[in-house]
Amino acid sequence: MHLFITFEGGEGSGKSLQAKALYRKLCLLEISAILVHEPGSTPLGEKLTRLLKWGRATNISPAGELMLFNAARAQLVTEKIKPALESGKVVVCDRFADSTTVYQGYGRGLDIQGIKTINNIATGGLKPDLTILLDISVEEGFARKSGQEHDRFEKEDKDFHQKIQKGYLKLAKEEPERWLIIDASLSEEKIQQIIWQKVSELLSKRAGK
Ligand code: TMP
Repeated sequence: MHLFITFEGGEGSGKSLQAKALYRKLCLLEISAILVHEPGSTPLGEKLTRLLKWGRATNISPAGELMLFNAARAQLVTEKIKPALESGKVVVCDRFADSTTVYQGYGRGLDIQGIKTINNIATGGLKPDLTILLDISVEEGFARKSGQEHDRFEKEDKDFHQKIQKGYLKLAKEEPERWLIIDASLSEEKIQQIIWQKVSELLSKRAGK
C-alpha cells in the first residue's frame, strides 16, 4: 500500500515533530513505513546538508543551492524513496521538492518554472500523494526557535521568511487536491489528529482499490 507523504513549512513550524509522530503511528499500527528528511538521509545528502546549512565559510550562489539540494534529492529518491514505494511502503518525507521551489524560487528569486524542471529531473517525475503544509507566521516560528543556533537559512531576514510563508500558500492553492494546509499554531495533539484523519482516509482508499 505505497503512499508518499511530504511535510513542508517555514522555520519553527513543527513539521519535523509531526512527521516523526506520523511515522510512529504508522509503525504502531504495523503499517510498513520509512521516515526520511531533506536534505540528508543518505551519505551524500548528509555531506551536502553540512555544507548547505552550516557551511558559513563557503559562498554558495542561489543556482548552486538549487543544484546541491537537487543532487541530495536525486540520491535520496534513488537510494531510499523509490525502492520503499516499490516495495509497498508508506514514505514520510520531511521536506521535498516544494522546499526548493519555495526557498530557492520565492526566497532567492530564481525562475520558478526553471526550478520545477530541475526538480523534476532530480525526482524522476515522482510527486507526493499528499503534502502537509504547517503554516506559521514568521514571528511565531522564530519565537519557537529562540535560544537555538541559527543555520544559513534561519539567519536570513524577516522579508525572506515572509516570502517563504507566502510562497508555500501560493503553491498549495495551485494544487489544492495534493496539499493539506494546517494552522501550525494549533496544539500538537490537534495537528496530529487532523493529519491522521487525512492519512487514514488515503490509506483506506488505497486498500479499497
Ligand atoms: P530543516 O532541517 O530545518 O528542515 O532545514 C533545512 C533548511 O534548508 C531549511 O531552512 C530550508 C532549506 N531548504 C532549502 O532552502 N531548499 C530545499 O530544497 C530544502 C530541502 C531545504
